[in-house]
Amino acid sequence: MDAVTTNSAETDPNRGWFTPPERESDALQDRESDALQDAAEGGETEIPSRSPAAIRPVGRAAARKQRAREEADERARQPEAASPSTPEPTPAFLSDPEPVAARIPSPQAATAPQASPDALLIRRTMAEVGPVADRTTSYFYALLFVRHPELRELFPAAMDAQRDRILKALLTAADNIDNTEYLVEYLSNLGRGHRKYGTRPEHYPAVGEALIGALSRYAAAVWDPLTEAAWVRAYTVISQVMIDAAAADERAAPPWWQAEIVSHEPRTSDIAVVTVRPDQPYPFLAGQYTSLETPWWPRVWRHYSFASAPRSDGLLSFHVKAVPAGWVSNALVHRARPGDVIRLGPPAGSMVVDHTTDSGLLCVGGGTGIAPIKALVEDVVEHGRRRSVEVFYGARHDHDLYDLDTMLRMQEEHPWLSVRPVVADTPSGSLSGPLPDIVRQYGPWEKYDAYLSGPAGMIRSSMDALVGGGMPSHRIRHDALEELVAAGD
Ligand SMILES: Cc1cc2nc3c(=O)[nH]c(=O)nc-3n(C[C@H](O)[C@H](O)[C@H](O)COP(=O)(O)OP(=O)(O)OC[C@H]3O[C@@H](n4cnc5c(N)ncnc54)[C@H](O)[C@@H]3O)c2cc1C
Ligand code: HEM
Repeated sequence: MDAVTTNSAETDPNRGWFTPPERESDALQDRESDALQDAAEGGETEIPSRSPAAIRPVGRAAARKQRAREEADERARQPEAASPSTPEPTPAFLSDPEPVAARIPSPQAATAPQASPDALLIRRTMAEVGPVADRTTSYFYALLFVRHPELRELFPAAMDAQRDRILKALLTAADNIDNTEYLVEYLSNLGRGHRKYGTRPEHYPAVGEALIGALSRYAAAVWDPLTEAAWVRAYTVISQVMIDAAAADERAAPPWWQAEIVSHEPRTSDIAVVTVRPDQPYPFLAGQYTSLETPWWPRVWRHYSFASAPRSDGLLSFHVKAVPAGWVSNALVHRARPGDVIRLGPPAGSMVVDHTTDSGLLCVGGGTGIAPIKALVEDVVEHGRRRSVEVFYGARHDHDLYDLDTMLRMQEEHPWLSVRPVVADTPSGSLSGPLPDIVRQYGPWEKYDAYLSGPAGMIRSSMDALVGGGMPSHRIRHDALEELVAAGD
């Protein structure tokens, strides 16, 4: 997800809302078709003809238009008034010229022990729809596409198991409505990232109405006008942060970059290093990732980490592992060749080196998770400050350590760098055992910041090991677990 990516150890996607059942894509697609069919036939999932809630267009331009309309209405209502008219009070979100970040509750409010009344109503709805999450998702998309068929073409042809991410993100954002810092970072990234899908401000009310339509149906037992008003307010803030971030980004960056593959280097039977040349400069930070679309699967975007720090020649490399039946990864590993052109979304992620401190870096990379770790090490080299960097590079077998030579070469060049390969099975020259256990054995790590990259399970168990060993969770960085779980990692 183009989402906030530095998570604390408290994050547990298993306890989160809407955890998708494993490998259910076919079943989900069936359910979507059923819901659409039902909707079309006016069956059990009948689509109400009226919009369930008044979701207004938002964003600064829409807000300006709305204010102008209201002022015009007001003038029309009081044509003979001698004194200047006093417009009706305008909802704060429409009239306030400040950036939305300044308008939603302060960070102090976020840390206050008392949740706001809106947050309480939102949580009550979520508790109600939790057990029927799949049906709520199906109905949400049914409402969206039946009412707004023109939006369907923005989405991939096959809406697979990842399709619950929009609704999940909406609910996550609503649940964090009191947490300004989280909301603004998360939603701004999302809004910028949505430019590549062709999302426009006028699409947002459609999504809001589908959201409220689905919630009012599946949380009927607790739904009332107060609850609906709370959701309308929450969605207004959510969509406005996304719209504002996208609008600001328009002045700074293209919605996507075209990038030509200039080299394709198979490293194992299922891993390739793919290097591309973007059509215009692509600014990013070591440790970040991008989203990528291949010409073979239009509108199907997947995330890949940059495998090096920014280079003077502007080239970008990715380490891609083909997963069984994986659409994009197999295309990149087995089909892509130099000369093919892919699309890249904007950079995302905050697993980046903090250059304001001299703390050591503990880097744990599993499988292709070594790619951003290599980028982080290059970043430390380029900044020229000597900091202790301890890399643990894990894989199942020796032969899966496809980038070990590169890492060992870096170790030879830099005395402050130590690289330890760890394999799960019988090793030849590597440490053996579960990666988190080995990392813990080499602790304590109090003087280090931790960077974890790889499958979600590895990240979770490494976090447990480090926090159990006394490392505060705010010193542990990794990409968003929700995204990695959605990816099936
Ligand atoms: C922040 C982030 C950074 C990432 N960086 C990289 C990277 O640098 N290199 C890289 O190779 N991948 C990376 N990924 C994973 C990548 O985004 C894709 O999820 C992966 O390539 C599979 O995509 P696909 O289209 O081939 O498979 P899909 O078509 O999405 O999946 C097909 C099926 O395979 C399952 N599946 C997906 N991934 C795996 C897996 N790893 N093992 C087993 N089954 C799986 C899915 O659940 C699904 O059922 C990253 C993911 C995130 C969230
Ligand atoms: C305004 C109308 C919107 C449109 C037309 C739209 C469209 C899309 C499309 C086409 C995708 C890619 C397909 C996919 O991966 O499933 C996508 C992904 C996603 N959307 Fe939206 N979206 C909209 C609003 C929102 C909102 C309001 C949220 C949440 C607050 C949201 C959250 C997400 C998330 C989390 C993803 C997953 C991939 C990513 O991180 O980019 N979307 N959206």
